[in-house]
Amino acid sequence: MGMKAVILGSGNVAWHIAPALRSAGLEWVQVYSRTLPHAESLSRRLGGVPFTDSLEAIDRTADFYLLAVSDGALAELAKNLRLPGKTVTHVAGSVPVSALQPVSEHGGVMYFFQTFSKDAPAPDLRQTPVCLEASDPATARLLENLARSVSEKVCFLNSQQRQTLHIGGVFVNNYVNLMYTAAFDLFNEKGMDFSLLYPLMDQTLRKAMRMPPAQAQTGPAVRGDEQVLRNHLQYLSESRQGKKYLEVYRLLCQAIQNGKQ
Ligand SMILES: NC(=O)c1ccc[n+]([C@@H]2O[C@H](COP(=O)([O-])OP(=O)(O)OC[C@H]3O[C@@H](n4cnc5c(N)ncnc54)[C@H](OP(=O)(O)O)[C@@H]3O)[C@@H](O)[C@H]2O)c1
Repeated sequence: MGMKAVILGSGNVAWHIAPALRSAGLEWVQVYSRTLPHAESLSRRLGGVPFTDSLEAIDRTADFYLLAVSDGALAELAKNLRLPGKTVTHVAGSVPVSALQPVSEHGGVMYFFQTFSKDAPAPDLRQTPVCLEASDPATARLLENLARSVSEKVCFLNSQQRQTLHIGGVFVNNYVNLMYTAAFDLFNEKGMDFSLLYPLMDQTLRKAMRMPPAQAQTGPAVRGDEQVLRNHLQYLSESRQGKKYLEVYRLLCQAIQNGKQ
């Protein structure tokens, strides 16, 4: 029999890590989510455990409470939830462990450093860094045991280091993904095949993992090809999709050129 646990939140992260943590020894006894059908669908994924959309109805007999909600909701829950003596853990990159202080004296963070979407296949959790923080040694040991059962890459980071990691993640995932979106929109507008870019996307990533990324940079901005840059800006300003990305192009071009100095 595993440790009794309640999960609060049923979004992208909850969807992928709750089943993995069950295999690691957590026995989910309840799902709470603000939107009842969302609680119900995670409950179904976990084999039909009880679910609720009422904070008052939270099962207080569990030992472990995982708060997998959006950062704003975390602050709200911390105001309203009191679970003294329980282990209470959140999964956010940029929220300090101290935010859980009002909820319990055993606060923790399990930051699964990956991109999770409900409707995308589960990433390989064994290769996903799980960055831990705990308010006390007993919680640290508990989280480390749990994390080691799901991942080979477990480490402790304090709240400040975790924020640095989060910002790094925003650059290499969110912003890179926006760059893909810009190219996708431009190709779409001209009826061109986005997969023409795959080999370049692939090689860009390989190079960035093998040398300092600034050293890997090529293209008109780093070369200072002013005429090409002017033509590109002209193209973007005249294209319906391109207009959306004109300022981004200009700003990134500037950043690349500033980086050279
Ligand atoms: N997605 C990722 O790739 C990723 C990776 C690592 C860490 N994280 C962190 O994990 C946390 C959750 O992210 P997510 O992507 O799983 O978010 P999400 O898919 O948007 O899900 C957010 C969850 O928070 C609940 N929620 C939102 N506002 C609420 C409120 N005011 N009161 C109560 N509940 C509320 C939602 O409940 P209902 O749906 O029931 O309304 C939902 O269950 C965030 O701290 C995020 O930084 C995310």
